[in-house]
Amino acid sequence: TALLILNGPNLNLLGTRQPEVYGSTTLADIEATCRAHAKALNLDIGFMQSNHEGALVDEIHAAKGVFGGLILNAGAYTHTSIALMDAIASVELPCIELHLSNVHAREEFRHTSYIAKVALGVICGFGANGYPLAIAAMHTHLQATS
Ligand code: DQA
Repeated sequence: TALLILNGPNLNLLGTRQPEVYGSTTLADIEATCRAHAKALNLDIGFMQSNHEGALVDEIHAAKGVFGGLILNAGAYTHTSIALMDAIASVELPCIELHLSNVHAREEFRHTSYIAKVALGVICGFGANGYPLAIAAMHTHLQATS
């Protein structure tokens, strides 16, 4: 099985972007950690980032039939994007919503999520460690449903 780990806007800046909120780990570091964790579980992964809403929609469409599950840190699009929510519902892939920060402890506008409405579950607040947690959760889910 293969998993797609998709990252939205501004996550390319991890490492230097508000490190007090998001930590000092870069997206390249996170990708390397994800690859190591996935390998240990015998999973293949795709790992991508885009700042563009439509490009993320395209990636979700292309994932159908290629990947068995989706881990999505949609960044700020989490709180705004009906298009991403609809894309996930359209491809019918199991999706885990992920955030580095605890969005519920932050501004009110981060408390709503369109992604959560179509997600299996949400992991937030564990920093970069949320990525391996999400991989483990998706692995367990896929094993239970295959
Ligand atoms: C984020 C939380 C979002 O509210 C924010 O817009 C981001 C990053 C996180 O990983 O904590 O860009 O998704």
